[in-house]
Amino acid sequence: MSEAIKYAMGEDRIPHSWYNIVADFPTPPPPVLHPGHGGPIGPDDLAPLFPMALIGQEVSTERHIQIPKPVRDIYRMWRPTPLHRARRLEQALGTTARIFYKYEGVSPAGSHKPNTAVAQAFYNKAEGVTKLSTETGAGQWGSSLAFAGALFGLEVKVFMVKVSYQQKPYRRALMETYGATCVASPSNETEAGRAILAAHPESPGSLGMAISEAVEVAAKNADTKYALGSVLNHVLMHQTVIGIEAIEQMEAADAYPDVVIGCAGGGSNFAGLAFPFIGKKLRDKRDVRVIAVEPAACPSLTRGTYAFDFGDTAHMTPLVKMHTLGSEFVPPGFHAGGLRYHGMAPLVSHCKELGLIEARAYHQNPCFEAGVLFARNEGIVPAPESTHAVRAAIDEALKAREEGKSPTILFNLSGHGHFDMQAYTDYFAGKLRDQDYDPKELEASLAHLPKLAAE
Ligand SMILES: Cc1ncc(COP(=O)(O)O)c(C=O)c1O
Repeated sequence: MSEAIKYAMGEDRIPHSWYNIVADFPTPPPPVLHPGHGGPIGPDDLAPLFPMALIGQEVSTERHIQIPKPVRDIYRMWRPTPLHRARRLEQALGTTARIFYKYEGVSPAGSHKPNTAVAQAFYNKAEGVTKLSTETGAGQWGSSLAFAGALFGLEVKVFMVKVSYQQKPYRRALMETYGATCVASPSNETEAGRAILAAHPESPGSLGMAISEAVEVAAKNADTKYALGSVLNHVLMHQTVIGIEAIEQMEAADAYPDVVIGCAGGGSNFAGLAFPFIGKKLRDKRDVRVIAVEPAACPSLTRGTYAFDFGDTAHMTPLVKMHTLGSEFVPPGFHAGGLRYHGMAPLVSHCKELGLIEARAYHQNPCFEAGVLFARNEGIVPAPESTHAVRAAIDEALKAREEGKSPTILFNLSGHGHFDMQAYTDYFAGKLRDQDYDPKELEASLAHLPKLAAE
C-alpha cells in the first residue's frame, strides 16, 4: 500500500470515452414516455429541447462513447482531478478504515458539473444553437453552464431557485462574470413562473419549477435549447470520467474500494463515480457496496415511489420512471440546494430496483458537523451537498472501528463550499433546523402522479 496522500495523473490519462452503464444492465431500464399520449417517446419529440447528438446518447446502448477532442481539450484545464487519501481524517477518527476521496472541486466552477456542461455546450454549438436555457439549485450547475457557454460563445439564461438566489448572491455574480443572465425562479418571465406566483406568491421555488421555466423558454424559442445539469442518461454518462479516473488512481494506490459513496440530488455525481465501479461488478464480478446519500428533507430514493413521473412542476417534460416524491413536492428550504429535487435519475433508480446500490438519508446538522470535521483535518471546505457523502464516509469509518474491520472507503467530494459560507455561518450560530418533509404534502403530491394505462 502506497504512502502517498494525493494521486495525481497527467493530462494524457483523461479518459477517451465515457462509460454507458446501460450496456451492462442485466435488464434494460424502462422507456421514456410521451407526456401527452403516454407511449414511448421518439427523437423528434425531444428535438425542440436538445441537439440530436445528445438525444442519441440518451438512448444509446453502446458501452463506450468517445469524448470529442475539443471537450477533452477543455477537460485538460482541470482533469484528471486528484484522488486523495484522507490520512488526517482517518487519524482524527481513530479508524482502521482507509478513506479515499475524489475531489471534483478543482474545476473552474468548483464542482463536478462542468464535466457535462462543457460536453452539452459543445454538442449544441456543433448543431448551430446560439442560446441555452437552464435551471440551477445552489448555483453550481448554473455557474458551470455559464463557464461552458463562455468558452463556446453561447448565450446562457439561468433560472435559479429563489431560496438559493437569496442565500448565495455570489453564485449569481459568478454566472454574470462568465457572461450569463440569472433570474430568481419562480419568475414573471414565463407562463409557468407566473402561474406558480399567482397561486403561491411567497414560493421559495424548487428545481422542478425552475426546470419548467427553462424548458418553456427553449420550447418557445427556435434559437434556444435546454440544458439539464443532472437526472438524464447522457448527463450521468458525461460524469463517468470521475469513476474511470478513480479506478486507475486506486490502482496506483494499490487499493480497491469496498464501499463507494456519493451524495445524490438528481444523481449525476453519484453515478459519475459509482457507475464505472458497478460496471466492473456486473462484468468482472468485482464486488463493491455502493451508497447514495440524500437529504432527509427531500428523500426520493429512500421514501419516494418508483413510478413514471414528470421531471418538472408544470408537466412539460417527458415521463420517466424514477423514485419520486411527486412533481408537485416542494421541499423545505434547507441549505444543500442542489439536493432539492423531487425525483432521482432513472438510471440510479433502476440500479436501486436491481439491488445494485443502497440509499440512506441524513439531516443537515449532522452533515455540516461532518463537513467541519473534514475541513479541520483535510483543509477543504465541502459544498453542503457534498457534506452528505462526507457524513456517510465518516459513519462507515466509525462502524469499521467498532467492528475492528479495515475496509477501503471511496467517496466523491463533488464540490467546494466557498460560495456556501452563509450556510456554515448559520450552522455555527445554531440556526439550522433539521426539518423533515411534510408527510401530508408528500401524500398529496404522490396522489397526483400521472395515471398510465401501461402500469
Ligand atoms: C457540489 C454539488 N454536489 C452535488 C450536487 C447534486 O447534484 P447531482 O446529484 O446531480 O450530483 C450538486 C447540485 O447542484 C452540487 O452542486
